[in-house]
Amino acid sequence: MTGSSHQDLLQQGTDFFASEFGIQPAGLWSAPGRVNIIGEHTDYNDGFAFPIAIDKRTVVAARCRTDRTLRVASSAYPGVVETSLDGLDPGSLTGWSAYPLGVVWALAQAAPAAAFTGVDLALSSDVPAGAGLSSSAAVECSVALALNELWNLGLGRPELARIGQLAENVVVGAPTGIMDQSASLLGKPDHGILLDCRTLQTESVALGFRDAGLGLLVIDTRTSHSHADGGYASRRRSCEQGARVLGVKALRDLDGIDLPRAAKLLDQQTFRRVRHIVTENQRVLDTVAALRTAGPSATGPFLSASHVSMRDDFEISTPELDLAVSSAQDLGALGARMTGGGFGGAAIALVRDGDADTVAAGIAREFFRAGFTAPHIFPVSASAGARREQWPSS
Ligand code: GLA
Repeated sequence: MTGSSHQDLLQQGTDFFASEFGIQPAGLWSAPGRVNIIGEHTDYNDGFAFPIAIDKRTVVAARCRTDRTLRVASSAYPGVVETSLDGLDPGSLTGWSAYPLGVVWALAQAAPAAAFTGVDLALSSDVPAGAGLSSSAAVECSVALALNELWNLGLGRPELARIGQLAENVVVGAPTGIMDQSASLLGKPDHGILLDCRTLQTESVALGFRDAGLGLLVIDTRTSHSHADGGYASRRRSCEQGARVLGVKALRDLDGIDLPRAAKLLDQQTFRRVRHIVTENQRVLDTVAALRTAGPSATGPFLSASHVSMRDDFEISTPELDLAVSSAQDLGALGARMTGGGFGGAAIALVRDGDADTVAAGIAREFFRAGFTAPHIFPVSASAGARREQWPSS
């Protein structure tokens, strides 16, 4: 995001709070969406992922109250949702407010709720919703960071990532892993985050895209994806079943060498699910190694191989995502893949700076020819994780 549009978002967040609650906020916090460069569905298998935080953010303007009332407003939805800190119950939280209020509930599992005070929260965002760019993690992480500070909870970022995940798993009801929240909290400009989802250790790895004259395009297919839907949960169940039959704690514990045994013991479909995870974990490590030793253009083939594995073995791609990927490749992208949970949402393409416009126009043309909804195509860059913001300068 350019400096000025970020300033605009901060100003919008401040004004929105004042118009909803009739008072100035005490502070502004923000958290980004994410793009996963590689490592899909590996997080809940204790494996590796390599996401970036992107230059699109959710801003939360917040102010403590003197009572125990919680009020939340979102510029994307009409009305203010009001409830009380006492008696917050996961089952009663629904709709968009389940994300911010779910974080309050999850924080209360980690710290004594008696220490909390009521709070007013106003959310504004330029992270596209439903595109697989983790607009939900951006909400969770901005709110978690704001409340951690306003309530003096002293929780570290890895704990805040778990809080966001807990809110999503229990309150929203989506059985997702820890990748999105980790990316949103731990991102760094021009760096990817190598995430070990078993130890929760992370390492920032320089991408070097700019020096290499490369950039990432997001192709939002504008077809729906919902993690609370059956597809994500059923992939997760297959992975857990595969691990059980093969006698390991998680699929992370398997290597390529274990695949022939897996092929004998598992039904064909479960075997393909397992093969995706095993090969994808290796591709994450190979991508990071290639980045370090040969530079970013060497990562392209791993991205493309990841897409094939998601399309054929994990079966989470769609005709729109496949077309986005194949046309990007035909138009000269160094690598391309769907990103995120799948079943719709977005693909990414690694392109030379000079090719970005041609690739974008060519993909749009192919979508038109195929009779698909026009995609939304835009560049993203690796950006800073969640942070407290300064007041917008006028
Ligand atoms: C969604 C989930 C993540 C992860 C990805 C797939 O984004 O929220 O935890 O599982 O799908 O890699």
